[in-house]
Amino acid sequence: MTQPSKPRLLQIARLPLAALETDLAARYDVVCLADQADPVAFLAEHGASFIGVVTSASIGLKGEVIAALPHLQVISSFGVGFDSLDIAAAQARGIPVGYTPDVLNDCVADMAFALMLDVSRGVAASDRFVRRGEWPNARYAPLTRVSGKRLGIVGMGRIGLAVAERATGFRMEAGYYNRRPVEGSPLRRLESLRALAEWADYLVLTVAGGASTRHMVNREVLDALGTKGYLINVARGSVVDEAALVEALQQKRIAGAGLDVFENEPQVPAALMALDNVVLTPHTASATHETRRAMADLVLENLASFYATGAVRVPVPVA
Ligand code: 8YV
Repeated sequence: MTQPSKPRLLQIARLPLAALETDLAARYDVVCLADQADPVAFLAEHGASFIGVVTSASIGLKGEVIAALPHLQVISSFGVGFDSLDIAAAQARGIPVGYTPDVLNDCVADMAFALMLDVSRGVAASDRFVRRGEWPNARYAPLTRVSGKRLGIVGMGRIGLAVAERATGFRMEAGYYNRRPVEGSPLRRLESLRALAEWADYLVLTVAGGASTRHMVNREVLDALGTKGYLINVARGSVVDEAALVEALQQKRIAGAGLDVFENEPQVPAALMALDNVVLTPHTASATHETRRAMADLVLENLASFYATGAVRVPVPVA
């Protein structure tokens, strides 16, 4: 008896979790576009054979790739952010896009606190001090207390909420700025990003990326945060004017920054690397075994649900 053929999926590039690639290959006939010698020629020749696409928030999905797949029915993306995917092109053709929100809220919020604690207490910087063998000959200067300070959250979505929950244990007062007030929230809402920056000791970015938030943290906002304020970014590099941030840090117009995301990943400006009051992580806020597995499961569930019911389980909201 012949087996029914597996649906043919185009995987845009190598995915963040190897186990997800194995799981996909067991269920679908998967081809990785980035492995093709000439991806454009490959799409021209074989584009019509694919009915699904798998990608991630970091890999993205260009409109021209969608256009080269005339029989595309479903897109499944690994990640909560979808600013790197041409959602308009997909939605114009009625193609559902699945993504993986919620399962990463805790890990991203944990990372926001890890960066906040590190940049304030100098965990990585003092680790370097110890490893350089400087401890026997010098004292490590006292740094900044986190507990009891003001935590300003930019974007009060699901990740922002998880950050706010953690503030309680640190007896921090949390406030937020969000375009729309969050109904029923006991948290203080500041009327503008500038006002929040002025109020806060820590400005934590959890907003979505994309055109509407591009460079919303600019020179004016950084100056409002001020010489005692810290910027923590677990959102998208595009939200911050990175050149203005480098300048503010170099000129000590803000106290420091904890950054998991950058404008031109994986490139990190050398000027940021040279500063000891900056903590840098390589876009790993969601990168724990547990969370990446949960994200992978949702990528698989979105596809399975589409093939069973015609709808992905967690669709990107229609604009
Ligand atoms: C991931 C992210 O690192 O979910 C997102 O939007 O940026 C991160 O969780 C990314 O999706 C991996 O590709």
